Parts: sequence; C-alpha cells; structure tokens
Amino acid sequence: MSTDDQLRFPEGFLWGAATAAYQIEGAPDADGKGPSIWDTFSHTPGKTYHGDTGDVACDSYHRFPEDIALLKRLGAGAYRLSLSWPRIQPTGRGLANVKGLDYYSRVIDALLDAGIEPAVTLYHWDLPQALQDEGGWANRDIAGWFGEFAAIAGEALGDRVGKWITLNEPWVVAHVGYRDGRHAPGIRDAAQAVAANHHLLLAHGQAVGALRAASARSDIGITLNLTVERPVTSEAAAHAAVLEARQNGVYLDPIFRARYPELLDGDPSYSPAAAGLVRDGDLALTGAPLDFLGVNFYAPHYVSLLSPDGQPRRGETVTGPGTVSVQPDGLPITAMNWLVEPSSIRELLTRVVHPVTGELPVYITENGSSWHDYVTDDGQVHDHERISYLRGHLAAVHGAIADGVPVRGYFAWSLLDNFEWAEGYAKRFGLAFVDFGTQQRILKQSGEFYASVTAANGLSAGDADHPPSLRLGCSAHRGGGQAGQHVRRLQAHQVVLAPGPVGLGGQAVGEA
Ligand code: FCB
Repeated sequence: MSTDDQLRFPEGFLWGAATAAYQIEGAPDADGKGPSIWDTFSHTPGKTYHGDTGDVACDSYHRFPEDIALLKRLGAGAYRLSLSWPRIQPTGRGLANVKGLDYYSRVIDALLDAGIEPAVTLYHWDLPQALQDEGGWANRDIAGWFGEFAAIAGEALGDRVGKWITLNEPWVVAHVGYRDGRHAPGIRDAAQAVAANHHLLLAHGQAVGALRAASARSDIGITLNLTVERPVTSEAAAHAAVLEARQNGVYLDPIFRARYPELLDGDPSYSPAAAGLVRDGDLALTGAPLDFLGVNFYAPHYVSLLSPDGQPRRGETVTGPGTVSVQPDGLPITAMNWLVEPSSIRELLTRVVHPVTGELPVYITENGSSWHDYVTDDGQVHDHERISYLRGHLAAVHGAIADGVPVRGYFAWSLLDNFEWAEGYAKRFGLAFVDFGTQQRILKQSGEFYASVTAANGLSAGDADHPPSLRLGCSAHRGGGQAGQHVRRLQAHQVVLAPGPVGLGGQAVGEA
C-alpha cells in the first residue's frame, strides 16, 4: 500500500467532499418547498448564534454548478449531498413535489456529467415541520413516513445514485434535538430523546427496504457519529464505557447485533430497550443488512471524575454528576473548541468500528475542522491549521487501513463554508471560503492541499510533519497529570509524537 516516501491509499480509494441541504441551499420556499424544523428553529429568537438562518446560506439552490466546479478543482471522485425532505414532500407525507425532485435530478446529472459520483443522504436534520407538529422522531409512525419518502427518492433518483445514506448522525438528532435542545426542534425531554433513538432506527430500516426495492444497484448505508471516550484515570474507565454505550452502542448494536447495549439495561432514559420501546420484529428491521457504514468523526473526548471538592479544574467541564470532560494540555483546539488528536480516528476505526463491522466497507463520511479563516491581501486563505488537521487525520486513516480496517473512502467536511447549525455562519469548515455577502467562493490553501492528495491518492511522507504550532503532543511533553498517563497507554495509536503547545481549555466541549 505504501512506499518508503509515500502514504499511498489503496487503489480505487474514493476521495470526496460533503455538504448538507439546509447548510448550503438557501431558497427555503422556492418551487413549493415546505418549512422544515430548521427553518422554524433558526427563525426563533435566541436559538442560533447571531440569529443566523439558512435562508440564503451558500445559495447552492441556484449556484450548484459553481459548487461542482469546486469539486472538480479538488479532484473529487464523489460528492456527499443531502436531500431536503420538505422540498420533496412539503408536509412530509403524500405526493411528491415534482419541482423539488427536479432540482436534485439536475444536481445529480451535473455531477455525473463531471465524472463525480453522488452519495446522497436522505435525512440530514431538516425534518418537515408538519411532521414535527405530530411529534416528529418521537412518534413511532415516522418510520412509515420516512419509508415512503425513501421510496419516492429511490424511484426518482436511484438509477443515478451510487450510494445512499439513510440518516446522518441519528445520535445528534435524538440527543441534541430532543434531549438537550441545542438543535431543532429544541426539545429537552429524555423520554422523547430515547424514543427518537429507536424510531430513527426503525425509519432507517424502512428506508433500507424501500431503497433496495427502488434502487437495486445502489449501495446503501447509514452515517453514525461515533465517539472515542478516553478515560484519564482508571476510576473514570467505567464512566467512559457508559458514555460510549450511550452514543455508539445504542446505534451500532441494534444495527449490527440485533440488540441494545446490555450496559444500559437499567437505564430507560438512554436505552430504548430499557424504556420498553422495542416490539417484536423491531430489531430485525433495525438490523437490515447494509453495504457500508459511514463514520463521521472530528475529535476525541477525555473523561475524568470531578475532584472531591466538587470544583472543576482548568480545562474541565462538568458533564454529569461527578464527571467532567477534560481538555488535556498540549492538544490544539479548533474554533469549535474541539480537540485535535489524529490518533483518535485510528483508535475509533480499530477499537470501536472494526470489531463490530468486520469486513463491511467503511467510509469516513465527514471529517474536518473549523478555524478562524480570513482572506489576506493576496486574495488567499492560508489555513495552515486545517491542512495540518487533514494531514494528521488522513495519515491516521491510512494507519487504520494498515491495521486491516476496510476503509474505502474519505469525504472532507466540508466542500465550502456553510450554515453551521446553532453556530450560524461564525464557524467555517470549508475547503472553499464563502464570502456570505457576495457569495464568492475562494478555494482555500487546504483545498489546494486536498487536491494534491486526491491527485496522488496519498500523502507524501513529508506531509506527516506538522508545522510546529500544531504538533501534537506526546505524554512526555503534555501538561502531565492523569491525562498524560492515559496518553502513554495510547502511544501505539499516536500518529505524530512531537512537543506541542499548551492547550486552551476551560470551555464547553462540543458534540463532535
Ligand atoms: C456534523 C454534522 C455536519 C456539520 C459537522 C461540523 O455533526 O453532520 O452537518 O455540522 O458536524
């Protein structure tokens, strides 16, 4: 797979970039589109940073040819986009809105003309508001409604879609949308969250069946955002295992093992099984055979116990009774306040994913980072931190492939800066910069770097060298303490071992 001076990826490795409908399209009521929960939520005062909405976003509804030109410049072989359900079914049920379907048909045809494979997500968070009015994902009937939507999409587009992804990050939908309310629909109710968890999976199963019938030649998968919880002390290990079960197990297990995690059996607020939501036949549906697993990953979490005096230390955020999340010294932190530690994606793939999915192909369907980008006088965006992040994570994915994990492709998040949900336009993840005043797109230096990776199908060995400001620390150079001890145990997974700066710490850790 590799020569001495190159980290070369397997032949046929798929290089792509990803976006989502509400984050880029704008045109919230064009051509008969109905309102989504994100239209409602973003227009509710106080819900998004600065009151930002997706009303215009990147105006991709009208400018998609420019976006496809950007994909060409990246040398992308695939583009992961999502369908807006209320563009296709304005109230989430009943006949399809032909104009909405036509839009996606035009995008898909233009991609194919450009030699780019469409990888289409059915649901990336923009639920028709009319369905939320009936309970949304907390209503078990949604499984059938979603199955009908999948059938419409499959029949209209399935002859041209290489890969279908039923759901994007159901954990975020259930947990952030219904448990802590930071995302649409903004509900804070554990019972609804655990119900949403189960109904999302039933809906996924219905969609797999509908797509198999309507789109027989396509590959079908689901995208999960899986977490790596690193305990910094042995006492915190049990807590880390519970956190992984609450985020990973409640999706991986019903999809691949026909059960919910035993570790959560006593906890009806996190386990659909313990909550009595599982009926006969449900786990056969949630376990419908798949052609691949999509994995989104951004950052690890470090887990510790709150000090006996009840006071969080610097870099700690209280996450529950007696527990904290830690930002260890020595790790860079992105503009989202997420840790940068490439070895964690390798740990995720080898320790968490591979034992469950075995030989099933895996795609990294999102990975990327947000930084405080700006255009300099030369008209360019010199986003060295994003290049460093990409290098490190691609090298780590390469390492996971060397470990035997069948990773078949990588989609950078994101093709272009866009509406970052509750963070509005304040957080930029793009390989292309968007001037939201003029809608001008400027390929960032990271975009040029990514184009060099796709052209070479790999990284040169020099690419593993990070600029000093972003070197990732090994334990000997960290702030020490218990986080350092844990890192020593993980050195086998470390990609780059070099002295690093002191991390910032002290603020809330996102849901990456
Ligand atoms: C993921 C989402 C994606 C984007 C990135 C930063 O959780 O799927 O839409 O917001 O985070």
